[in-house]
Amino acid sequence: MSIIKDLEKDIQNIVKKAGYEVNKLSMEPSNRRDLGEYQLNDAMQLAKTYHDNPRTIAEKIVRELSKDKRLENINIAGPGFINFSLQLDYCYDFLNKMEKDLFVNIDKKEKKKIVIDYGGANVAKALHVGHLRSANIGEALKRLSNTMGYEAIGDAHLGDFGRPLGLVIKEIKDEYPNLPYFDSNYKGDYSEVKLPITNEDLERIYPLASNKSKEDEQYLEESRTITTKIQQKERGYYDLWKKIVEISKEDIKKTYSKLIVNFEIWNGESDEMEYFDELYKICQDKKILQNSEGAQIIDISKEDDKSPMPPLLFIKSNNSVSYETTDLATILERVKNYKPDEIWYVVDARQELHFEQVFRASKIIGIVDDNTKLEYIGFGTMNGQDGKPFKTRDGGIMTLKNLIELVNNETKKKITNESINEEEKESISNDVAIATIKYADLLPFRNTDYVFEIEKFSDLEGKTGPYLLYSTIRMKSLLNKANLKTSKKVTKLLGEKEKDIILTLLNLPLTLDKALETKSLNEIAEYIFKLTSLYNKFYAENRILTEKDEQLRNSWITLTEIVYKLNSLLLDILGITIPNKM
Ligand code: ARG
Repeated sequence: MSIIKDLEKDIQNIVKKAGYEVNKLSMEPSNRRDLGEYQLNDAMQLAKTYHDNPRTIAEKIVRELSKDKRLENINIAGPGFINFSLQLDYCYDFLNKMEKDLFVNIDKKEKKKIVIDYGGANVAKALHVGHLRSANIGEALKRLSNTMGYEAIGDAHLGDFGRPLGLVIKEIKDEYPNLPYFDSNYKGDYSEVKLPITNEDLERIYPLASNKSKEDEQYLEESRTITTKIQQKERGYYDLWKKIVEISKEDIKKTYSKLIVNFEIWNGESDEMEYFDELYKICQDKKILQNSEGAQIIDISKEDDKSPMPPLLFIKSNNSVSYETTDLATILERVKNYKPDEIWYVVDARQELHFEQVFRASKIIGIVDDNTKLEYIGFGTMNGQDGKPFKTRDGGIMTLKNLIELVNNETKKKITNESINEEEKESISNDVAIATIKYADLLPFRNTDYVFEIEKFSDLEGKTGPYLLYSTIRMKSLLNKANLKTSKKVTKLLGEKEKDIILTLLNLPLTLDKALETKSLNEIAEYIFKLTSLYNKFYAENRILTEKDEQLRNSWITLTEIVYKLNSLLLDILGITIPNKM
């Protein structure tokens, strides 16, 4: 158990010794530091339970607290608030434990298995800023979960099954009618056919085809027919589809990897549809499907629904399978292959109803049991200055590649260190650009919309990714120079600034718990900034490396090392890489 929770538990027992039972101690970091570092607010509540004066109760508790060697400066303020601070020796002990192993200050959770669905990029369509937040939040939640002792894996769940592919192939057919894929008499091996199409072509073709289909009914109809041909694995069309998926997937992987987003599973919706027959059979055996105007639906309404819940469309009247059904097949597959305790979906807010429908249906069909938790984790939009989703200068869709490049051009200007050569500069600037994007994206509470301000977010000062990287690299460089020969140990510290750092370190478990509970990274993003700023204040006031007092210098270096290691760990949770220099 972390030190802070240990202390909390002990204090709860001390309160008991004083004669009072509390279910949950109300101990928190004090906002009146002049009175103490922590405050206990329980006396007021106890006064009601025990019909006594809060001050009298507080006095009794204080009498017991005073016997504890870890605490000092115990006092009562106002009607019965108890304040106290921590003895330095106790803090040294804490720091020395943390120096050996950061995890003494992280409360690991009981193991459970989680599949996180946070990709959703669509094959043959460029990844755009809408996919950015899923990727950033999902990847960070996965890393946080694994740090906290869960076993979490990510699934890219690529959209490779639906209408867009039919559209793209329809356009390719119009542009290259002589490709053997469209020749039903072709007897050769399709895998040997050279396709004159690159990923750039695909990014041009999809918007074109999509626009055409809106104006040309026949074009749309033909693309629908092609979609069905792909889904029925018709020779030629299906082979072309496979090629396109391959080309596009490679590019999608590259972009995700640039963003430091890694999936353990690279399934597409088409892979999940292999489980459709089994799913369909279960539904039929249990007589769950109902006919409705030629379609097959599942009634998922509940008696206490406040607003009407539309039925889940399982098979459409034209016999094609709905988006909801691909997600049901996916659940069946995940349960079979991974036996997860929970499945989390990090998908934008517009799909909340979709998931509510899917979750209800999956319980009705019985592909998940009551113990399996399905959770939808939504998020707000990243907007431009005009308050609308972030766009390119001329109002087009901002692809992820464009966004990264845009930010990269900005961060390149900030790298002025002359010892960095051009090649290094390229890679460092890229790391800084990703840090800029990710930190800005994870800083607001997940459900909040935010405005992407490129100059502000890439600034070396302020609550930004580059500030955190710069500061953390400086800590590292100090540690390299210090090259400590004696063993690292904190035995002496001086003032308030160091104590502020220690108290922030102590509160780490509370921050991590909060992040896991809210499934939002904002608390962690704020925490790294706070810790870093406090450290920087302390750094500015002291000449650490040239300090004459050996004991003090040693302690400062050790403190630096702890902050450095913790920053590295937390930035890694956010999916941010720290370059060697900048
Ligand atoms: N490909 C979908 C889209 O772009 C997102 C998929 C989200 N995940 C899921 N399991 N449905 O809208």
